[in-house]
Amino acid sequence: MASSFGIDIGTKKIKVVMLQGDQNRQSLKSCMSVDMPGPGMLSESSFDLEEIAETIRQLVKDANISTSIVNAALPDSAVYSKVVFIPEMSTKDLSNAIYWEAEQNIPAPLATLNLSYQQLRKREVNGDTMLEVLIVGAQSSMVKKYRNVLEMAGLKPQTLETEIISVIRGINLTSKSPTTLIMNVGRFNTSIVVVEQGIISFIYSIPLGSVAISRAVMTQFNLAEEQADQYIKVYGVSNQQTGEKIANVIQPILQSLLTEVRKALAYYSEKNKQASTVGQIILSGQLSSLSGIDVFFVKNLGMETVIANPWKMHAIEKVPKQILDTDTDYATAVGLALVDYEK
Ligand SMILES: Nc1ncnc2c1ncn2[C@@H]1O[C@H](COP(=O)(O)OP(=O)(O)OP(=O)(O)O)[C@@H](O)[C@H]1O
Ligand SMILES: [Mg+2]
Repeated sequence: MASSFGIDIGTKKIKVVMLQGDQNRQSLKSCMSVDMPGPGMLSESSFDLEEIAETIRQLVKDANISTSIVNAALPDSAVYSKVVFIPEMSTKDLSNAIYWEAEQNIPAPLATLNLSYQQLRKREVNGDTMLEVLIVGAQSSMVKKYRNVLEMAGLKPQTLETEIISVIRGINLTSKSPTTLIMNVGRFNTSIVVVEQGIISFIYSIPLGSVAISRAVMTQFNLAEEQADQYIKVYGVSNQQTGEKIANVIQPILQSLLTEVRKALAYYSEKNKQASTVGQIILSGQLSSLSGIDVFFVKNLGMETVIANPWKMHAIEKVPKQILDTDTDYATAVGLALVDYEK
């Protein structure tokens, strides 16, 4: 049985997941997280990066991870992703067309990016056959930094992808799943994707994250960040006493996130007139730990809303109850470990 290893290097936590199995069945071998030391991966100081590498080395040891080959994710804020329509053409012409599309659509000099693309599907648009292509431009400096840190930790980075792609894999959508909007809320960044018949058809990222929620509560109640986050987690958007006060403070930020979802839904139905409409929303990342958030979404958007749980969605075996209940925390790391079992 082959083992697979995913590492999620977040802004606050570093998480590792090791699975064992094959394409059809996987079980959990190991799963652990630690706090990110110092200022995290945005730092340019080699001292900070060595400290992160050392933390990873220790984590891998403590988690008893027996392979050094690892899949990792870059933060979506360091990667430009865009789905574009291109007329059907030869593979040779396609790479030129991709370059041109990237120049039009990516607001950064292409020389600073690692550019890649993936053909998603063919679609009839006004009687013409168009290719739908995912263009991904990752900041070369970040790719280099992540590879460096992982290598300094004694690991061999294999796949390096943008986080939302790992989250989508963690969610397990197939060609039979309803069209799904996924919203992954990180501390500084939120990504939204629409997945149709198991394939991405819309993807974008905004610089708004849960830190806005933390700051609002910290300011209003004069709390330290840790404490504010505890309150937010416990009370969420509930309507009871203390909960109501917290809910009032975080409402404006939740409303901005709802606005983004509405915009994405409108854009998607406008762009893909003949495609199916979105049937469900899946929440992952920090928003999903807010109690009552799914009901809040259902109420405001009138659409079925589910919290992502990669363990349950992939029926991963031998997951202890307390980890099974962490819902979305390990979505990225599980998605990364699952790269190795892709069909
Ligand atoms: N909804 C929330 N609002 C505020 N703080 C939260 C929320 N959810 C989690 N947190 C805090 O953030 C901490 C780390 O969360 P998480 O593991 O998602 O971070 P991360 O993966 O490092 O972040 P990111 O993926 O954005 O870089 C949690 O332990 C908790 O204290
Ligand atoms: Mg994270």
